[in-house]
Amino acid sequence: MAGLFRIWIFTVLLLGLIDPSQGSLHPRMSFSQGSSERLLGIYHSSIVKNTSTLLLSTDAETLFVGAQDALLSLDVSQPDSITLKDKLEWAASPQNMKTCTVASKTDCGNFISILQFFNSTHLYACGTNAYKPQALIIPASSLSASRDTKDAKNCCPSSSTQRNAATIVDEELYTATKVGYFGDKVISRCHSRGTRNNLELQNVPKLLQEPIFISSTHVASEGKILLFFTEVGELTGDLFLNSFIVSRVAQVCTDDNGGSLTLQKRWTSFAKSQLVCQQGDELQFNKLQDIVKLSPTDEKSPDNTLFYGVFTSQWAASSGLSAVCAFSLTDIKAAFSGDYKTFDLNGNHWTRQPNIDGKLGKCGLFNDNDRVLNIVKKSFLTEKAVRPVGKKLIFSSTEERYSRLAVQRTQAANGHSYTILYLLTESGFLHKVVLLAKGPHIIEEIQIFKQSQTVKNILLSTSKGVLFIGSSEGVFRVPVSNCSAYPNCAECVLARDPFCGWDSETRACATVSRMGSNLRQDVEGGNANEQCTEFKNTASTVIRIAQLNEIVVLPCQWRSRLAEVTWRFSNNSIVPQFPYMQRADGSLVFTVTPKTVSTYRCVSEELGFKQTIAAFTITLHVIPRSFPPPSHQQPDITLESDEGTKTELIPDYYTTLEFDKSEPTKGEKTDAFKTPDRTSEKKARTNHQSTKNGFPVVLSVNEVARKRISLKNRLKEKAESPDLKSSLVELEKSNLPPKTKMFLKGKPLSLGLVQVFIGLVVMTLCTITVLVDKLNVETVMSLGLPFVVSGSVAIAAHKRSSSALIKATLAMSVICALLAAAGTGYFSWELSNRPGEDPCTSGDYWSCSYMIWRFNSLVDGLRGLLLVLCFLELCVCISLSIFSARAIQQGETDVDLYGSDTSLLKAGVDCVSNT
Ligand SMILES: *[C@@H]1O[C@H](CO)[C@@H](O)[C@H](O)[C@H]1NC(C)=O
Ligand SMILES: *[C@@H]1O[C@H](CO)[C@@H](O)[C@H](O)[C@H]1NC(C)=O
Ligand SMILES: *[C@@H]1O[C@H](CO)[C@@H](O)[C@H](O)[C@H]1NC(C)=O
Ligand SMILES: *[C@@H]1O[C@H](CO)[C@@H](O)[C@H](O)[C@H]1NC(C)=O
Repeated sequence: MAGLFRIWIFTVLLLGLIDPSQGSLHPRMSFSQGSSERLLGIYHSSIVKNTSTLLLSTDAETLFVGAQDALLSLDVSQPDSITLKDKLEWAASPQNMKTCTVASKTDCGNFISILQFFNSTHLYACGTNAYKPQALIIPASSLSASRDTKDAKNCCPSSSTQRNAATIVDEELYTATKVGYFGDKVISRCHSRGTRNNLELQNVPKLLQEPIFISSTHVASEGKILLFFTEVGELTGDLFLNSFIVSRVAQVCTDDNGGSLTLQKRWTSFAKSQLVCQQGDELQFNKLQDIVKLSPTDEKSPDNTLFYGVFTSQWAASSGLSAVCAFSLTDIKAAFSGDYKTFDLNGNHWTRQPNIDGKLGKCGLFNDNDRVLNIVKKSFLTEKAVRPVGKKLIFSSTEERYSRLAVQRTQAANGHSYTILYLLTESGFLHKVVLLAKGPHIIEEIQIFKQSQTVKNILLSTSKGVLFIGSSEGVFRVPVSNCSAYPNCAECVLARDPFCGWDSETRACATVSRMGSNLRQDVEGGNANEQCTEFKNTASTVIRIAQLNEIVVLPCQWRSRLAEVTWRFSNNSIVPQFPYMQRADGSLVFTVTPKTVSTYRCVSEELGFKQTIAAFTITLHVIPRSFPPPSHQQPDITLESDEGTKTELIPDYYTTLEFDKSEPTKGEKTDAFKTPDRTSEKKARTNHQSTKNGFPVVLSVNEVARKRISLKNRLKEKAESPDLKSSLVELEKSNLPPKTKMFLKGKPLSLGLVQVFIGLVVMTLCTITVLVDKLNVETVMSLGLPFVVSGSVAIAAHKRSSSALIKATLAMSVICALLAAAGTGYFSWELSNRPGEDPCTSGDYWSCSYMIWRFNSLVDGLRGLLLVLCFLELCVCISLSIFSARAIQQGETDVDLYGSDTSLLKAGVDCVSNT
């Protein structure tokens, strides 16, 4: 068994985590903290810290709150406010505080850890009291009245960081907690009445191992207290298995009074069993976080009581997995009345202990003889574990770690009853989940706190329909539903909230109050098509005026996260991915072009119900007269072919342009134009479309002159629009005379810069060489200066390419080229011709000649560098002179009749087609 288990564990670890498809549920609606649709009542006071325990009066009008050094009663009867009714200041004595601090405990202070009804009139409150727990019995109606202090050494927790479980039955306190500075674990009965004994745990090995107590509850039908906790598994073997955490349910009987000899003042009814929250063979959710009781609707069958527990997994800590399992009282009873196991100390293993006469796990054993009690003493672990109802998880999440839960059953409008879970996530959200026949559905999530809280608990009042959530920060009140948040029938029905239904008379989403009420609701299917037949979709179309090239954002806000939302054209086809962009918030973003001028609808679909959430029609902002917006219809075009000319009307705003017939166009295009039939005409259009952005360029000679003037004006008008700023820059550039263009082709700016740089370096080197008197100063100076001058002229010519400057560049380049050529020759000669004389004749000859050798190397290096620079200069000058010469030549041959106008026209066409 243990071997099999080990194999299972390792398989699970190897396979990693649970099948992620399990819990991909998302809340349908999400409300952030402070949302006006889900208002939270908040009680928050700077004096009240660490509100750790909550207790609601039976009439649900008063909420008692245990905090640090204080006990409060809050009036929660008003729906819109929480007010302080009464307060008891209850701090630990300075002496206790001192002792506590000396013992280096961090949570000294009086944290109220247990708050229960003692009887119908009095409250029982336990405070940690700086590790010297103290209990108070106080009248619920007046906290500050005289009080009865009790020592609660072995009954109440000493530390505020430990969870505990406490239940009061008949003015007797049953607690499971850790006490004292060392955290000794106890499960005890305190304040026993009359002659009854206070009871504790029997002293046997393996009874409890590092338990964390979660909760306890009184099951009156069985006369038992059930305790829920987690502990370290007692499977023996390697280290790994020793850290395996198991969830437990344990029992003690309220009639127990301890044995007479064996188990004196000890439980004779303590037994524990494993709670397994697991689906099939998948990984166990082994860490119980919280568990609550759901009593059956029919009080005559208490065995149908269910316990809903929320679990997380020890191995999936980072992935935040959690699950909810339900356990039935019947199954728990079956486990306790079955066979048991005993721990064999010698063999260090567990052996099976058959349930003799069905006595084990029974109440009333304290009267039995020592033989039976000795078996009872050692047999506290049941053979069988308690498995969840239906052997499956009720609900699981791969995204959330749930830490607390509350559960209720409610009746829908049709009288059908549904279970609702309220789950608090570690990140501070409350999830409301309805369990439907086909699976769970998360109706909504509400953000309660922004930061994760050290203490938290959740308390449900079904009579008032509110949840109270206590946290380190304060107390929150959340109504279980707000039907008014659903504005129309479809929303109301799609929510599948059993609390809400559509009232067709008042035309509002109303709270389901009585059974058989006449509300439209479909909790199981959410079929709005069926329930809301007269529902009219009222999203009206918004007309959005836009300019060409403007980027528009069409918002679409829908509330249901389960709806599938698409943007569609008016013909109902889906808006493609490109050139549109759909943002995460649902809005559609695109650039207005003639192709994107259309009508758009944002359509959501949920459970087969479709509705238009928003609709927009984009219309172009019309620029008066001169530039009417192009429609995305194909304009008529003129085709010229050998057979003759078919001329159709040319819309006024299409620019026509002369193409020289002799100028060769791309073969493919020419062919298209030459073929007269319709298919190739289409092809021609397509070609143009791809090259000119959908604006065919039309060829016609005689139009040019006429259009020229007006086009200039139009361009000027268009240029005023900011959208066309960039086009204008382009225009200016292409407006240059060919001469200048030719000149600019030679990159005068960069070449000029290179020249200036070379000149400066040469002059610097010259200065160095002057100092050592090795080169002729004049030579170098005459080289460096002209280079700088020539470079500057070239740069100037680039900036303003006038004829004079281009000519000057040519002249300077030629001069510098000659100089550079001379320099190249001179330095080559210098390099190859070293003076032969040796100045070192006497004294320290070797040292001197070494110095000379090094000096000569340095000078050679400088000469080499100068040689390279001169050669570079030569190349630059040649390049510059060639381009400036060609530019001058072009300037002379070009008649410049309408040369610049042609380029202007060309630019105009580009400009229009780019828009
Ligand atoms: C319920 O929703 C309505 C409509 O949004 C809102 O006006 C109201 O304040 C909400 N009530 C609560 C208690 O959240
Ligand atoms: C009490 O509250 C303070 C902050 O208000 C927090 O730092 C501290 O951890 C809380 N103590 C416990 C035991 O929750
Ligand atoms: C509740 O307990 C208190 C304290 O023992 C006692 O004074 C009070 O009479 C009890 N109330 C009832 C209704 O039994
Ligand atoms: C629907 O209209 C859009 C533009 O209005 C168009 O691109 C698309 O092809 C049309 N779809 C159909 C199926 O007609």
